[in-house]
Amino acid sequence: MLRRVLDVRELSAGYGDVEVLKGISLYVNEGEVVAIFGSNGSGKSTFLKVVAGVLKPWGGTVHFLEEHIDPLPPEERVRRGVALAAEGRRLFMGMSVEENLILGGWTRRSRVKENLERVYSYFPELSEKRKTLAGDLSGGQQQMLSIGRALMSEPRLLMIDELSLGLAPAVVDRLAHILLTVREKEKISLLLVEQEVSLALEVSDRAYVFDLGEVVDEGPSEELLRRDSIRKTYLNVL
Ligand SMILES: Nc1ncnc2c1ncn2[C@@H]1O[C@H](COP(=O)(O)OP(=O)(O)O)[C@@H](O)[C@H]1O
Ligand SMILES: [Mg+2]
Repeated sequence: MLRRVLDVRELSAGYGDVEVLKGISLYVNEGEVVAIFGSNGSGKSTFLKVVAGVLKPWGGTVHFLEEHIDPLPPEERVRRGVALAAEGRRLFMGMSVEENLILGGWTRRSRVKENLERVYSYFPELSEKRKTLAGDLSGGQQQMLSIGRALMSEPRLLMIDELSLGLAPAVVDRLAHILLTVREKEKISLLLVEQEVSLALEVSDRAYVFDLGEVVDEGPSEELLRRDSIRKTYLNVL
């Protein structure tokens, strides 16, 4: 049977006294690419923050590789293989490409060198720009750096919030292609939050549709691509 890397049940969370996530259940199998999409403010980023451990849940459970991780702080989750490339990329803009990557490898200190080479093999452009300040990179290169930094921790589950945001379609295609290579080579699972629904459904095995903090649709991506309600609402196809 396929092992669940991530298994979230009935998760609720919010900010102050405002409930944002209202009982989300979602799982990711080993080696799977799972996409989450849905309108702005539907709770996608909030969901990833709870899984990463930077936001406390109000209720429900999060299991990672069959262990209950709710009590664990974010650093311990990173050690166990949870990585988040956050929305907005959150790079240290005044530091070089390589310095940003090294910071991403703090949980695997003894393997920083190998992991740098590994990340550079996926992103040759970063290798050429190792000494360049993150702030001087193009948007696409910054996204590569954000993903590369997450890969430095040798994740079992890589979560990426808004992969395509602000990037040209050709750049997004390349990033998607690289991610599928990473998945293939490292047998890791990917959880992608993506506004661009056609892209989300093309690169993923399964997908979840969030609306107002709830899962309103889910299924194999091929099936969702053919579903009339999805095509009308998210793909502008009549
Ligand atoms: N730090 C925060 N403090 C208060 N409310 C927030 C915060 N972050 C997000 N929210 C609110 O939570 C809801 C869900 O936001 P978010 O998870 O960012 O949605 P999405 O990523 O799907 O666009 C929105 O109504 C948003 O305004
Ligand atoms: Mg978001």
